[in-house]
Amino acid sequence: MSRSQIVALDKQFVWRPYTDMDAYIAAGDPLVIDRAEGIFVYDKNGTRYLDGCSSWWTASLGHQHPRLVKALVEQATRLAHVAFAGVAHEEASALAEALIKVAPQGLTRAFFTDNGSTAIEVAIKMAIQMWRQLGHAEKHRFVTLDGAFHGETLGATSLGGVDVFRRPFGNVVFDCIVVPSPANGGYERAFQELARVLREDGDAIAGVFVEPLVQGAAGMRTYSPEYLRELRSMCTRHDVLLIADEVFTGYGRTGTMWACDQAGISPDLMCLGKTFASILPMGATLASDRVFSAFAGGRDRALLYGHTFCANPLGARVALEVLKIIDEERIVSRVADLAPLMATKIDAMASMKGVAATRSLGMIGAVDLVEEGAVSGDERESYLRTAGWKVTDEARKRGVYLRPLGSTVYLCPPLIIAERELEGLLGEFAAAIAAAVAVG
Ligand SMILES: Cc1ncc(COP(=O)(O)O)c(C=O)c1O
Repeated sequence: MSRSQIVALDKQFVWRPYTDMDAYIAAGDPLVIDRAEGIFVYDKNGTRYLDGCSSWWTASLGHQHPRLVKALVEQATRLAHVAFAGVAHEEASALAEALIKVAPQGLTRAFFTDNGSTAIEVAIKMAIQMWRQLGHAEKHRFVTLDGAFHGETLGATSLGGVDVFRRPFGNVVFDCIVVPSPANGGYERAFQELARVLREDGDAIAGVFVEPLVQGAAGMRTYSPEYLRELRSMCTRHDVLLIADEVFTGYGRTGTMWACDQAGISPDLMCLGKTFASILPMGATLASDRVFSAFAGGRDRALLYGHTFCANPLGARVALEVLKIIDEERIVSRVADLAPLMATKIDAMASMKGVAATRSLGMIGAVDLVEEGAVSGDERESYLRTAGWKVTDEARKRGVYLRPLGSTVYLCPPLIIAERELEGLLGEFAAAIAAAVAVG
């Protein structure tokens, strides 16, 4: 098929995610990716783009990693799929063992799902059912942070604190207790509100959901490990589960295997996705012994829940290979080595015209743009702003594939990127920002 045929069919038949379809059909000009390798994706017209956002934060090990492709092909020739119902298989058993070995201490069981959102749904159900079976059915509410993003399904949307994603479903989603995020800089207020909520409503709360160290979709909003330590101790004190959503932060992105590691804490439940199987849709929810043991005592107390493709052998085999590569190619220490370069160059962008703020963490660098006409403080609407698109358009002209988060633009490159390539990427990023600001 020619490039133009692909786009024509896409415009005629496909309903695209996160897309204003009218505008797209009228004037959209997508990349048409034909192949990928390492840190690059290649358009059908031959143009090469550095994947500066790791394809929605999945390609941490780069595209077409030979070991992942080999594992996938080998597995596909032997066992591509079988129901995980009354069936065990080597791929799931070996993966679960490997996950528990590297997981924060105290997580002892892996429940497999097929993406990040469903890993969150599993955690929601585990928490509610656990408390019911421990004789505390009244503990069924969840605390979430302002600006949180935990996925697309209705349960995950209920936990979400990015208003534009939640608003269309406002009359359907379940009600959560929203506390201020420390990522807004107000640590004192964040601690106080969290303490107040747990003190006053702890008896009704099943768990607190948190994106550890960085709220990704809210605009790569970072905060200190201190908050996580305090959160852990408050959850323990009030007997509330701490549920860490490491779907984005897991697997080295922040400079440690898990973002929770930087605070030295273990959650009661931990949700995984994205880099988990990197090239295939798969996720998992890891649980502590305490959560798991609440489900003992008969079939009516079991977790009667499982997605059709859970523990898919292809995904499980690839996910195991991801863990091996991370270990053998020392991916996490590579991130730690490259983080200072990311931090220095991103910091330097703070003085650029049109830049309101910058921040970085591990292999994440973010820049908030000044948005003409935006009402300051109304961050809930940030996602709908347009300044970021001008930068990503300019980045595309410079051979870099990026996506904005409203008026925040960010880099989240594959973790295998070489120092020289990262330096080049940071240079193009700054040039794209300068060009976008100059155009206005
Ligand atoms: C922190 C976090 N949790 C959960 C999800 C949902 O993952 P998925 O898109 O695989 O359902 C995302 C997706 O971006 C995420 O960033």
